[in-house]
Amino acid sequence: MNFELSEEHIMIRDAAKEFAQNELLPGVIERDENQTFPTEQIKKMGELGLMGMMVSPEYNGAGMDTVSYVLAMEEISKVDASAGVIMSANNSLVCWGLEKYGTEAQKQKYLTKLASGEILGAFCLSEPNAGSDATSQKTTAIDKGDHYVLNGVKNWITNGGSASVYLVIAQSDASKKHKGINVLIVEKDSPGFSLGPKENKLGIRGSDTHSLLFTDVKVPKENRVGPEGFGFRFAMETLAGGRIGIAAQALGIASGAYELSLQYSQERKSFGKELYKHQSIAFKLADMATDIEISRLLCLKSATQKDECEDYNLSSSMAKLHCAESAMKITTEAVQIHGGYGFVKEYHVERMMRDAKITQIYEGTSEIQKIVISRAVLKE
Ligand code: CAA
Repeated sequence: MNFELSEEHIMIRDAAKEFAQNELLPGVIERDENQTFPTEQIKKMGELGLMGMMVSPEYNGAGMDTVSYVLAMEEISKVDASAGVIMSANNSLVCWGLEKYGTEAQKQKYLTKLASGEILGAFCLSEPNAGSDATSQKTTAIDKGDHYVLNGVKNWITNGGSASVYLVIAQSDASKKHKGINVLIVEKDSPGFSLGPKENKLGIRGSDTHSLLFTDVKVPKENRVGPEGFGFRFAMETLAGGRIGIAAQALGIASGAYELSLQYSQERKSFGKELYKHQSIAFKLADMATDIEISRLLCLKSATQKDECEDYNLSSSMAKLHCAESAMKITTEAVQIHGGYGFVKEYHVERMMRDAKITQIYEGTSEIQKIVISRAVLKE
């Protein structure tokens, strides 16, 4: 497998880096503090092609590969992990599945606007009592001939308040268990749809997370994605790709914290010498750099497998697991290196530590990744 980046890849990475420095860095501390959604910045990310990176230009996407997506995601999340998850949910969890399994009419009506960033999408799987145990869907979509009637509650939905289009996973036939689950496109202004309060979160506070309530929402049959009973498989396939995006987000958070630590350790002196000249700090930097290298290679491997139409289920879970665990470790060490400065907001690393935590939880907890990995390796 060749991890040599092409000129185009380097151009995309540099463009994302420049955007992050110029447009996301100013105000990132305030957006975190006040839980402000980066509306203007996301609009500009749409204009740059970052909201539908892998979608074909035929549907207003940027037509790029998954490697480009990983590179851009790292640079965006290095500066603002909230912008990273907004981008990730739209790209991986909404656009990807619609392009792969949507009808031509669904693509024309929804994907063209989602891929250009004109509107945002949300993926709605988790419920109050179905997080990791995703087959236990209690939201129902009852078949009424030409439409479904949707009832239930979805929890912790990224882009919940700012999306216009929701991919909702719901049980249509409980007797068939996960094979009776469907995925439906629901529009925000559908009668019976409402938002729960915005969540007050530990991290990624610039992103917009809500519970969603569905009360007798009529969804036309033409809004079902894929065949009847395909919803669970759709969710699992979507998440396998989504995990590459979240792995790259975690990698970005980790590399952001590492770069700040590297810089700080050369500026700050203690006991008459720069911090990095103390072996205790130099060794921390060595561990961070090694973990980041492993994370980056895992992300690139999984992205390359996806681009080459190989099976990426195992590699995406490995990437997600390693990147999330090391992001938590690296950001915690970054706070430690910064000492008292690390504990206050101006130095960014405390936010990065809070942001890293969610990467061990969403799109499958680290424990879920271990289930996927252990099942795959035991089958081999
Ligand atoms: N691709 C295709 N099909 C898959 C699949 C995949 N990657 N993984 C599982 N399936 C299929 C299986 O083949 C099986 O189908 P058959 O019955 O036809 O053989 C079916 O799905 C059920 O699979 P399992 O028997 O393995 O189901 P399980 O109950 O043991 O659960 C699990 C498997 C991997 C633990 C799954 O429940 C899971 O991934 N849970 C975590 C859910 C999750 O990631 N939630 C995140 C919410 S979204 C989010 O966080 C978004 C955000 O806001 C950013």
